[in-house]
Amino acid sequence: MPARVLLDAAELDRTVRRLGAEIAADHPEGVLLVGVLKGAMIFLSDLARAVQTVPVEIDFMSISRFAPDSGRVKLLHDLQTDIGGRDVVVVEDIIDTGLTLGYLCTQLAAREPRRLSVCALLDRPTRRIVPHDIEYRGLTLSEDEFVLGYGLHTRDLYRNLPFVVAADRDEVLANPGVYVPELYHATD
Ligand code: IMP
Ligand code: MG
Repeated sequence: MPARVLLDAAELDRTVRRLGAEIAADHPEGVLLVGVLKGAMIFLSDLARAVQTVPVEIDFMSISRFAPDSGRVKLLHDLQTDIGGRDVVVVEDIIDTGLTLGYLCTQLAAREPRRLSVCALLDRPTRRIVPHDIEYRGLTLSEDEFVLGYGLHTRDLYRNLPFVVAADRDEVLANPGVYVPELYHATD
């Protein structure tokens, strides 16, 4: 199956601007954006600039699964910021099963922020195992298509695409590089 563009650069720009404006409106005193590495890195860098009217601080966390879709998650890199009493928005590329977000929010809530919200570029509720509120949502995916680009990857490939595509999950798992020829147009 050829990759299908879900969000082109213009739609990404519109979506990020909308989310940035929503976050700014809800946080007049400023906000700490917590990016989940590495997938949210590109989204977060655009989102931070779209939160234009209030001060923004940025920090990162990194976690990994013991196995794909396993509920066991470990913390690889923790925040450098004390979030006690702070207004925090967790920034994710995509919420799928919700296992990652569930783990992160449990960890962060224990540190007693004043307010803890979630901003996800993409939401795929069909595969959800752990339910969670998502206060700031870009696009809801209706089908179980694997997505790539704008930070989203498989085996660290495709993160630098300036758009998001839907790909065939089985094809990508069997051959991670399968979409490289059609998605990159290198000239010799
Ligand atoms: P969850 O814990 O199942 O909600 O998955 C969250 C993480 O898995 C996301 O933050 C992504 O990093 C990764 N992920 C889930 N679905 C996709 C996808 O379709 N493409 C690329 N990465 C994905
Ligand atoms: Mg992620």
